[in-house]
Amino acid sequence: MSFHTRKPMIAGNWKLNKTIREAIEFVTLLKRRLSDPQSVDVVVCPPYTALSDVAEILTESEIGLGAQDLYWEEKGAFTGEVSGVMLKEAGADFVIIGHSERRQFFHETNDTVNKKTKAALKSNLTPIVCIGETLGERESGKTFQVIETQIKGGFLNFSREEIKKLIIAYEPVWAIGTGKVATPQQAEEVHAFIRKELAKDFGEETALGLRILYGGSVKPDNISNLMAEADIDGALVGGASLEANTFLDIVKSASMAI
Ligand code: PGA
Repeated sequence: MSFHTRKPMIAGNWKLNKTIREAIEFVTLLKRRLSDPQSVDVVVCPPYTALSDVAEILTESEIGLGAQDLYWEEKGAFTGEVSGVMLKEAGADFVIIGHSERRQFFHETNDTVNKKTKAALKSNLTPIVCIGETLGERESGKTFQVIETQIKGGFLNFSREEIKKLIIAYEPVWAIGTGKVATPQQAEEVHAFIRKELAKDFGEETALGLRILYGGSVKPDNISNLMAEADIDGALVGGASLEANTFLDIVKSASMAI
């Protein structure tokens, strides 16, 4: 299987941005501008509050909808949490899990990532699982060790069938929101390592079929070089996904790069 058989994806992670009204305005424009079938999958991940309104606009559109997190229980006394069933009913098909901001500010661990990923699959949501090292970890030569631990813990007790349903996002923490993008070579080195680790545990076929996105200061002018690498199957975009023209330029450049 060559890497061309993996359909690339550009996913926008809006984080804590956009009210319902702003989200509606954004996706209305996006839908109009992306009315033709695209050679890359396009997904937007608004805050919870905007999900169902955005879902309504995106019906009969190729643009996918994702949430930014979920809780692993389906219901109960867990104030402030949202479950996979709720997200699915709101219209989401994807969910970001274990973003470094969740790990850093909300104490998420490889164990909670494991539970959330299982729960997402149970609700028929496609998890976009984020992994990546901090600057300190990279500088002390621990990148591969950290990635290996995140994979081992995050996907402990997963079957091949479950792994096949995932999307992975490699997001070096030092590149997120900093304007400091990883070089295509730095990113490719880790993407290839992730694929190799997954091949060891879940078989080559599983690993070769898996989409691995890069995230961290992706912009219209750096996406093509990143996408030229064999194991980079698209991007999870934060800041540059908030402005429609910039996001559309990334989608356009990504389509041309394949
Ligand atoms: P950034 O964020 O593109 O603003 O660096 C990426 C992410 O956090 O997913």
